[in-house]
Amino acid sequence: MKTITVYVADIIQPVDNIKIFKLISKNYDNLPRFSPGSNIFLKINLDGCVNYKAYSLINDPWDTGAYEIAVLRRDDSHGGSSFMHNLIQAGSVLETTYPRNNFPINKLARKHILIAGGIGVTPFITYVRYLVRYQLDFEMHYAFKLMSNTLFHNQFIDIIKNYYYYCSNDGKRMMVEDILKDQPLGAHVYVCGPKSLIEKVISVAEYLNWPRAHLHYELFDSGQNGNHFAFELKNSNIAGSVPKDVTLLEALENLGVDIPYGCRSGACGLCATRVISGDIEHRDCYLSDDEKKEGNIILPCVSRGHDKITLDL
Ligand code: FES
Repeated sequence: MKTITVYVADIIQPVDNIKIFKLISKNYDNLPRFSPGSNIFLKINLDGCVNYKAYSLINDPWDTGAYEIAVLRRDDSHGGSSFMHNLIQAGSVLETTYPRNNFPINKLARKHILIAGGIGVTPFITYVRYLVRYQLDFEMHYAFKLMSNTLFHNQFIDIIKNYYYYCSNDGKRMMVEDILKDQPLGAHVYVCGPKSLIEKVISVAEYLNWPRAHLHYELFDSGQNGNHFAFELKNSNIAGSVPKDVTLLEALENLGVDIPYGCRSGACGLCATRVISGDIEHRDCYLSDDEKKEGNIILPCVSRGHDKITLDL
């Protein structure tokens, strides 16, 4: 995979549990342009295993001098979060992929409804920059737990006319049905955050007969922090195991097995792989409920096996 070498030019900590890293090209060149909603994958070496962690770009897409990402500290993390928070300092050198966008703004939409949960707000930071700049019709809904740990909340108050926020510690809940009903024809909804929020928005939108093509989501589930399980590749006589902090996709890549991928977050379906035997713990938002029940396909970027699975590879 083609990567760019960058170094960490600056780190700021706007709130207690989030750090923002500013990445600059090692050669001080401009970095490749990106569109709102894009992310990069940072190559992270954890205990000898190469992992790729996805981070949304949050800086102005018109600024190609640097990339900025926001990383949430997860107290239970032994992966990318603790690596970035504990080991990366100003001056550290990292490898990043080129930006890619699996969560673009639909240019034909007549209105944009943005729904964010927690750190799932990050792709919307570039959305907001774009939508405000071009004075497009949009509203933003942002659910979070603690007012003191929110990212960009104050900026949103300043620049977004139709901004609604829901702080669960203050007892304010987001009512998805109220948001989606009575929207004009041609509106598109975008949701990013925990799986439960995405599933809720999808089910309400389906109930209200929203066209599927008007629903867009990006999942923030890394597929890590699961059980340890074993795998076998039927056609190539390769076997291995997946530690609890590694995804199946990463474990396969570490053995040199090339699997196509896009989002690495269970949303695009590009990494879909046939399963010959074994039970799957599905964590994606791509397969239908029926496909999940059939148990013949796994999305190895997020989903995991129980005990042992055999793949058609
Ligand atoms: S890479 Fe997109 S679903 Fe796995």
